[in-house]
Amino acid sequence: MDKLVITGASPLEGSLPISGAKNSALKLMAAALLMEEPLVLTNMPNLADTRFMARLLQSLGVTVEWPTGESLCRLHAASVSSTIAPYDLVRKMRATFNVLGPLLARVGHATVSLPGGCAIGARPVDLHLKAFEAMGADIVIEDGYVKAAALRGLKGAHIQFPFVSVGATEHAMLAAVLADGETVLENAACEPEIGDLATCLNAAGARISGAGTSVVRIDGVRSLRAARHDVIADRIEAGTYAIAAAAAGGDVLLQGARAQDLGALIELLRRAGAGVEAEPGGVRIRRNGQGLQAVDVDTRPYPGFPTDLQAQFMALMTVAGGVSVVRENIFENRFMHAPELNRLGADITVRGAEATVRGVPSLRGAQVMATDLRASVSLVIAGLVAEGETTINRVYHLDRGFERLEEKLGRCGAQVRRESGSA
Ligand code: UD1
Repeated sequence: MDKLVITGASPLEGSLPISGAKNSALKLMAAALLMEEPLVLTNMPNLADTRFMARLLQSLGVTVEWPTGESLCRLHAASVSSTIAPYDLVRKMRATFNVLGPLLARVGHATVSLPGGCAIGARPVDLHLKAFEAMGADIVIEDGYVKAAALRGLKGAHIQFPFVSVGATEHAMLAAVLADGETVLENAACEPEIGDLATCLNAAGARISGAGTSVVRIDGVRSLRAARHDVIADRIEAGTYAIAAAAAGGDVLLQGARAQDLGALIELLRRAGAGVEAEPGGVRIRRNGQGLQAVDVDTRPYPGFPTDLQAQFMALMTVAGGVSVVRENIFENRFMHAPELNRLGADITVRGAEATVRGVPSLRGAQVMATDLRASVSLVIAGLVAEGETTINRVYHLDRGFERLEEKLGRCGAQVRRESGSA
């Protein structure tokens, strides 16, 4: 398994491009199942996860034209040849569960493995299934599989989510697009990726309004037509590099980043002592000599501070002056990076959903282990700050969500190299 070796303690200077959003791309790809005509996605991130989704779609009969390294992907589901997503394909990546709704809407039935738990928590799909039931689907869970059927088609429904779920909002939207009548989603998630999905579906002839607010209305249509859509910039990748620049110091332009999607992070970065400005080409982060101050972090659904940036921000707080309290409100087990950061000399104590980070003057390089996608990249940030060499083992987690990380950081002067070897 590959590892990353980072020689830290030098500032980042330069500019790096932000890729298309992984979390958006995965749902946009699933949307292709709704269309008999081709869906062309541009600004597609080349990642292990998006490539994996492409393979699942191919196994369902979708023609995928996506040459290696290209950012244009053409998906054509002229017909659907299978409605079964097996355990091995869903277990590896949870977002593959999102083919259930489109298959149900297009074909009237689907059998999709339950995604099961993952490192950061149980992550059930009960809200997804309740939404489909409200739309008239019969659902049984048998042998770890969700078997869903709506042989006379899905019907529009009024769905009130008991709490905010990004996945359930997107999944219900995908299914409702071809349902008979109007669907109203209340207490919907407001993440920018939901707006992106609606923009793409509307370009294909769907009638969705209110995406990006807590009430989304979907007026069902009989079919969708061909569409072309540019995947939104990845706010989590942009936020990660913004935090990296704040941590290492220097001056970095994040090309294509959207400041409007990063409000909660930008506010905290400024309070912590970094300069953040929106520019016509992206977002610039500067910290030249100023010290970092501890600030508290509370993860919330959008527009609150994203859970997907919590680990990275904690890495920043390890070298800030004072004590920072980090509260994780979305997932129950998302502090696996804390002991790894402590191996680098950080002082973090975890109690339940709260981590107390006491800033230390500096970190020192060590061997650490990546545990999940965002946790891994928090170790990269810590490695950029630490004196000496940091080796991050099991970087396959990083490859799931960060495109050309070494190259992008290298453009800004970071010394990050990949070595192949055992974990
Ligand atoms: C998505 C993102 C993930 C991000 C998360 C929160 C993708 C591929 N993943 O995950 O990176 O961290 O949003 O911003 O887009 N829940 C239930 N029942 C359900 C659904 C969710 O109990 O049916 C719970 C989850 O366990 C979690 C919370 O609701 O505690 C929020 O999860 P959700 O917003 O659904 O996250 P995902 O869509 O899985």
